[in-house]
Amino acid sequence: MNLPNMIEAKKRDKKEFNVYNYKNEECVLKNKKYFIRTYGCQMNEHDTEKIKGILELNGFSEVFDVKLADVVILNTCAIRENAHNKVFGFLGQLKHLKESKKDLLIGVGGCMPQEENVANEIKDKYKYIDFVFGTHNIDNIIGIINECVLNNRQNIEVYSKYGDVCEGFPFKRDNGITAYVDIILGCNKFCTYCIVPYTRGAQRSRSKESIIREVQMLKEQGYKEVTLLGQNVNAYGKDIYDNYTLANLLKDVSGTGIERIRFVTSHPWDFIDDMIEVIALMPNVMPYVHLPVQSGSNKILKLMGRRYTKENYIELYNKIRSKIENVSVTTDIIVGFPGETEEDFNETISLVNQCKFDGAFTFAYSPRENTPASIMENQVEETVKFERLNKLNEVVNRYSNENNSKYLDKVVKVLVLGQSEKGNDKLMGYTENMKLVNFIGDKSLIGEIVDVKITDAKSFSMDGILLN
Ligand code: SAH
Ligand code: SF4
Ligand code: F3S
Repeated sequence: MNLPNMIEAKKRDKKEFNVYNYKNEECVLKNKKYFIRTYGCQMNEHDTEKIKGILELNGFSEVFDVKLADVVILNTCAIRENAHNKVFGFLGQLKHLKESKKDLLIGVGGCMPQEENVANEIKDKYKYIDFVFGTHNIDNIIGIINECVLNNRQNIEVYSKYGDVCEGFPFKRDNGITAYVDIILGCNKFCTYCIVPYTRGAQRSRSKESIIREVQMLKEQGYKEVTLLGQNVNAYGKDIYDNYTLANLLKDVSGTGIERIRFVTSHPWDFIDDMIEVIALMPNVMPYVHLPVQSGSNKILKLMGRRYTKENYIELYNKIRSKIENVSVTTDIIVGFPGETEEDFNETISLVNQCKFDGAFTFAYSPRENTPASIMENQVEETVKFERLNKLNEVVNRYSNENNSKYLDKVVKVLVLGQSEKGNDKLMGYTENMKLVNFIGDKSLIGEIVDVKITDAKSFSMDGILLN
């Protein structure tokens, strides 16, 4: 058993990290069915693709009805309290299921067990959870399951460490059209509200060679789009190269000829002019930037440890808007951070009024274990947080709608990802600048890039008619 430790998780000591290749271990379970549920960000979704790939390499097959499963895995997120609540809610249901199905194995992985409190709580109170793993040892999931089965007891293996990089995972990606590719793991920013630097370890870039090779391979397999992933992709390369940045990487990935390249998430702090140039110049680097601002008040930005001012942000934002044709920009905003007054909140609203974002993910501040903000003075009352959240959402949605309305009667290029939730005869896909479009079309178009004329615009999607 190994339990996490928040002090260890915080250490950043310029240590070199190891890069090693995935090595398969034979599973003692044979021909079993697994069910997996994923919470959280794209990095977690991508980690789930690793877990699925490893399980299927070992003869497991996926089921989508939890009652049919022999092994259930929850890949969890710790970013806010409600992410926790969802997981513990589902675990309650699984406990019942296990009462009637004694052999069922339940596993919990991802960011939540990286928290000391959670791992200890599982050890002391959730005996029916069979195995627990963190974000640093996904590649060892078979070893962890084996030990749990052979010893017939709960197995908790969670490490708080700087972190290594495992290459060569046997991914099982959900579709053959668009793929996630990790470029930088972990985070060194330590924004005062955020748990991620503790749950994901230090910032570690993958080598440019392995990233380019992976994109090349995806292109050969027929993928049309890659999304380069990191908690802060703009820091790419800083830890392993003297002079090779995300701008260089985008240029090289662009050289593979894959049709669409995206990247998330960008921290405004590391966003250099070269990046803007590359996005503007390279036809296959998509004109879409997710640029979290978090707050429009300099006082709050400082308390958050974001290392930029509202003025810095707006300057960068305007540069991106003016230099990249047809770009769309989305953001993340937290309301109710400790010390946020009505005045600070109004500054956030005024920043939104100024930037007119294409979209924004908005959150009520949620105190996280061991983070500096959780013990700051002047915590904001929950009711106030949610009042502010509602007010903010109204403003944000108005601009999303306004921005989308600009596309009425225009023709956009849509990469068709699948059938739409809006009806059986409808397809859905994304424009170059990441707008969701629904339109009537034949399933044979899935995976193609098609021209669609926009006929209706809403806050979160657009409708159109197929032209070719
Ligand atoms: N690495 C990204 C963000 C990853 S987390 C970045 O720095 O831009 C995604 C979003 O969750 C954050 O941008 C922030 O808006 C929100 N978030 C993070 N911690 C939070 C907390 N404790 N309470 C509320 N929202 C939080
Ligand atoms: Fe969290 Fe800040 Fe790192 Fe983003 S940059 S993951 S908000 S600590
Ligand atoms: Fe959640 Fe971990 Fe992602 S905390 S947002 S799953 S990095």
